[in-house]
Amino acid sequence: MKERIAIVTGGGDCPGLNAVIRAVVKAASRRGWESIGFLGGYEGMLEPTQYRSLDYREMDGLRFRGGTVLGTSNRGKFSAKTGHGEVRRVPEQVLQEAYRNFQKLNLRALVCIGGDGSLTIAQQLFETGMPVVGIPKTIDNDLDATIMTFGFETAVSCAVDALDRLHTTAESHNRVMVLEVMGRYAGWIAGFAGIAGGADVILIPEIPFNYDSIVAKIQEREQDGKLFTLVIVAEGARESGGTYVTSDEAGANREARLGGIGHLLADRIQERTGKETRAVVLGHLQRGGSPTAWDRQLCTRFGVSAVECIADGEYGHMVALTPEGVAPVKIVEAIDKIRTVPHDGELVRVGQALGISFGNGL
Ligand code: F6P
Repeated sequence: MKERIAIVTGGGDCPGLNAVIRAVVKAASRRGWESIGFLGGYEGMLEPTQYRSLDYREMDGLRFRGGTVLGTSNRGKFSAKTGHGEVRRVPEQVLQEAYRNFQKLNLRALVCIGGDGSLTIAQQLFETGMPVVGIPKTIDNDLDATIMTFGFETAVSCAVDALDRLHTTAESHNRVMVLEVMGRYAGWIAGFAGIAGGADVILIPEIPFNYDSIVAKIQEREQDGKLFTLVIVAEGARESGGTYVTSDEAGANREARLGGIGHLLADRIQERTGKETRAVVLGHLQRGGSPTAWDRQLCTRFGVSAVECIADGEYGHMVALTPEGVAPVKIVEAIDKIRTVPHDGELVRVGQALGISFGNGL
């Protein structure tokens, strides 16, 4: 009988999931292993199990297809986070049921493609005895122990494209344009897109902002003859002393949904400056569509490396981008805490050197 491995995609979808699936299936098949994929996230591992076989001959074209052909979920019995990122232990009987089904299907290993929530579940499954290998996915780029997650570069490109478009309309109308981007509690998308897309104000969760500082930047530009301003704000940014803006409070087994800061900010800026201000929420456009070339190659390297980990019996590990290339690191090292933008790091220093406001002056 042929060796068989399984793949699961968990949490929010992300550009490049299919490219990773393709790479894992192709690399596994060259070793003579079969692959199956659980459907609808980790829930597919529970009774009645839901999975499909993944034939390497069906992988054509998956490297540029968005979403995940396996489906995914960021709620339900397997949610590993609640509130604002508090870790929740998946009930033992749920983990055990998944492990029993894994054994019934005669699987050699499970490849878990996920962000911090899904990799927290992968670690919990590993602790039950399941041989798992993780692959770091998230547009938020907030996983520790890897220089970059896949999907992030695609999301940044999408945000930069939006800023370029907002630039021309802001300039034509002498307006302030506010672009709200995702990223949860990390400001990587806002920070990188803000620098690449020429934002004048970048607001990130790591640096609480005050309105006086934002208004001062807009007025400084006016005095300089620049009658429009581009503001990029991460969904997790908040006013100094304030709380997160949410579009949906945390329910049972799920995290709070961040969102709404862009419109709030636009209203306040208009009130305080008298300048016409508009807000755009980029939302799930950042998660849809084809991965960029950078993400495709990263997905492919991650997929191949995950299969090598299985061949070497290196379980409880996640493949990570390190300065030396893609290499396995312990999953616990990646999920211990989220990776955020350092206040005094290069990104902030570069922005400040260009005169970009992070909303914390004055
Ligand atoms: O973690 C990825 C992410 O897109 C976050 O940036 C965002 O806060 C969240 O997922 C949105 O989740 P949902 O798909 O439930 O709206």
